[in-house]
Amino acid sequence: MDKVRLGIIGMGNIGKYHADYILNRKITRCELVAVCDAITAPLERFKPLKIFTDGGQLIRSGDVDAVIIATPHFQHTTLGIAALRAGVHTLVEKPISSHKADAERLIAEHKLHPQVVFAGMFQLRTEPRYLKIQKLINEDLGQLVRVNWINTDWYRTEAYYASGGWRATWKGEGGGVLLNQCLHNLDTLQWLCGMPARVRGFCQLGRFHQIEVEDNVTAYLEWANGATGAFISSTGEAPGTNRFEIVGTRGRLVLENNRLAFTRNEMDMLQFSQSAKQGFVKPEVWNVDVPFNDAVLPHAVMVQNFVNAILDGEPLIAPGEHGIHSVELANAMLYSSLRGETVELPMDGSAWEMELNRLIAGSTLQKKVAKVAADDFAGSFRK
Ligand SMILES: NC(=O)c1ccc[n+]([C@@H]2O[C@H](COP(=O)([O-])OP(=O)(O)OC[C@H]3O[C@@H](n4cnc5c(N)ncnc54)[C@H](O)[C@@H]3O)[C@@H](O)[C@H]2O)c1
Repeated sequence: MDKVRLGIIGMGNIGKYHADYILNRKITRCELVAVCDAITAPLERFKPLKIFTDGGQLIRSGDVDAVIIATPHFQHTTLGIAALRAGVHTLVEKPISSHKADAERLIAEHKLHPQVVFAGMFQLRTEPRYLKIQKLINEDLGQLVRVNWINTDWYRTEAYYASGGWRATWKGEGGGVLLNQCLHNLDTLQWLCGMPARVRGFCQLGRFHQIEVEDNVTAYLEWANGATGAFISSTGEAPGTNRFEIVGTRGRLVLENNRLAFTRNEMDMLQFSQSAKQGFVKPEVWNVDVPFNDAVLPHAVMVQNFVNAILDGEPLIAPGEHGIHSVELANAMLYSSLRGETVELPMDGSAWEMELNRLIAGSTLQKKVAKVAADDFAGSFRK
C-alpha cells in the first residue's frame, strides 16, 4: 500500500473540519474516499466521495483502509471495536470512550489485532508550547512538586448545549466539561506529569447551564512522589483563565496568555534549604522567556502521523491505549465528587460504569435541541 484510503464516521463539527483539510491536500499519501453520518443531508457537498449512513457499512465496505471516528463519545467504543475487528486502522476522536470500562473494552479489542494501527486524537501533544514544557520537565525542572491548572476558558452558551441532543447528558455523553472540553488538558496533564495516585473532585452539576452533568470543577490531585496539584475547569465562567503552572525543585514554569515563562532556581530548592546558613534567603533565580512556534494545524499533524504509522510504522504520537488515562481522570473526578471521597488510581472502571448507568436511568432532563447560528467552530480549540 502506498496510499491510505480514509473514511470519516460522524460528520458534525470536527468530522467536517478533518474532511476539509484532508480534501485541501494537507495530508500526503492519504485520500478521503468516504464519509458517513446518521444524517446525510449535510454530506451532499462531499460528493463524489462515497456517502454512508451506517458506520458499520462503511467499515465493512472494502472501500477504506482506515477510519477517523468522530461521532458522539459512546459510539467511539462500538464503532472502534467494529473497525479494529475488521482490520481497519482506527483513529478515534477524544475521548476514546465515554468511561473507563468502555475504554478497557476498546483496548482489549486492539490487543487481539495488534497489527491494526489504533490512535487517539490528542492534538495538544503536537503543539510546540507543550513540547517545550515536556523538554523542560525532562531536563531542567528537577523533581515534580506542584501542578496547578486553572483551565476555565471553555466558556459555552446555552445555544451550544442545545446544538446536539447528546450533549451534556449522562446518556449521550457520560459527563460534561471533564469528558468533553477539558479532556485534552487532562491528557496533556498526565502526558507531561504522569498519572496521579489519587484524586478528590468537587463537581457542580448544571451550575451555569440547563444541563444535568458537571460544568464547574475543582479537583485536588496527588502523585506517588508526594507532588500535589489542583485542576480547575468550567464552561460557565467568562472571561475565564488558562494558567498552567508546574513547579519542580529547580524552578517554576508558567504557561499563560500563550507565553511560557521559566523561573529557574540556580540551585535545587531542597539542596539550598539544607545548605543555607541564613533563615530567610531563597535560591537566586534566572527569568527565562521560553520561545516556541505556533503549530501548523495540530489535527493535521496527528492525521499525518496516523497515515505514516500505517504506511511506514512511524511511532504514534498518541497510541489509542494512552486515551484511557484522560478518561480515567475525568471519571475519577466525577466519581469522587458524587461519592464525597478520595478515589485511588487506577480506579475501578466497572464501579463508575454502574454509577453512570444509575445516573442515566434516573435522568429526568428534557433536552431541548435547537439549530445554532453559523459559528467559528475552529475558534473553540485555538486558545
Ligand atoms: N479533537 C478535537 O479538537 C475535537 C473537537 C471537537 C469535538 N471532538 C470530539 O468529536 C466528537 C464529535 O464532536 P462534534 O462536536 O463534531 O459533535 P457533532 O454533534 O457536531 O457531530 C457528531 C456527528 O455524528 C453523527 N452521528 C451520531 N451518531 C452516529 C453514528 N452512529 N454513525 C454516524 N454518524 C453519527 C451526528 O449526526 C453528528 O453529525 C466528540 O466525541 C468530541 O469530543 C474533538
